[in-house]
Amino acid sequence: MKIGILTGGGDCPGLNGVIRAAVIEGTELGHEFIGFRDGWRGPLENDWEPLNVERVAEILPLGGTILGTSRTNAGQPGRIEKIKENLTELGVDALIPIGGEDTLGAATALSQAGVRCVGVPKTIDNDLSGTDVTFGFTTAVEIATDSIDRLRTTSASHHRAIVAEVMGRHAGWIALHTGIATSAVATLIPEVPFDLGEIAERVKRRVDARRDAIVVVAEGALPREGTVSSDSNEVDEFGHVQVGGIASYVAAELEKLAGIETRATVLGHVQRGGAPSAYDRVLTTRLGAAAARALDAGESGVMVALCGGAINTIPLAEATGTLRTVPPELLEQLGTVLKSM
Ligand code: F6P
Repeated sequence: MKIGILTGGGDCPGLNGVIRAAVIEGTELGHEFIGFRDGWRGPLENDWEPLNVERVAEILPLGGTILGTSRTNAGQPGRIEKIKENLTELGVDALIPIGGEDTLGAATALSQAGVRCVGVPKTIDNDLSGTDVTFGFTTAVEIATDSIDRLRTTSASHHRAIVAEVMGRHAGWIALHTGIATSAVATLIPEVPFDLGEIAERVKRRVDARRDAIVVVAEGALPREGTVSSDSNEVDEFGHVQVGGIASYVAAELEKLAGIETRATVLGHVQRGGAPSAYDRVLTTRLGAAAARALDAGESGVMVALCGGAINTIPLAEATGTLRTVPPELLEQLGTVLKSM
């Protein structure tokens, strides 16, 4: 089989690990590979490069993606047909699309249109259903934790509060894990509208007692009182508004309410850059190899996923149907600890 690989959506540490393992495993099984450049733009515009074991040999610790990425939406009118046409012309028999809900949503449509696809779930946000965790997430949490440990020392020196904004448009997984790991005084996530008055009291108590106070806020979190406008009105091909700016709003409000000098820091794309953690290197190696094996075994319309420690295949539609947000039961379990920090 000739297999095409592509990486779509926001990049994420670990993409190269998936590419590497799929090529090594698939080549061993007798298949040939090409890499499409910049997500769905590659097969749409016939932009590709050859992939072989030599090309991928050294890429496991590399951040980003050697193939490039984009938010090109293959689901727009006429594009599925165009991609099918181009794949036939190139003699590509199957695809391994690596991406989040948008990239895998397009993969679902393509596989329904008869193209063999085995997807690999990716997003630092950890909000895809059907898999215990998405690769890139643990690396992002490590980076955010390291950054906030640094913010804490300067917060303490100045008797200031610092509001640290992390990624997470619809799901608060990065904020929650980072908030726990850094014993933040408050962790604000999109799933639970927050009460600024209550947080201000906690910040004041914390600075009085220990001099520092860190508030972790997910970029998509909103206050109980209503909505805050985004810094930007830009919308991508999937209709996602670029969020951001909540940390400045929260910092300004807390400063007024708590009477404590407060600064805002947006961690932004630092969370997505650089080398993947050891955990993500192992996970992506398992996922990439499993994707090649699944295609070799004749599977299609599925994605490989971590399910209770094992790598399984599940229907693509299962992953893209609903977003996996932080469940209330988990917050309840953590309630006392979160509030006592
Ligand atoms: O890929 C997911 C993500 O990192 C989100 O957490 C974030 O909101 C978004 O991508 C940022 O997108 P962009 O890279 O287009 O600014």
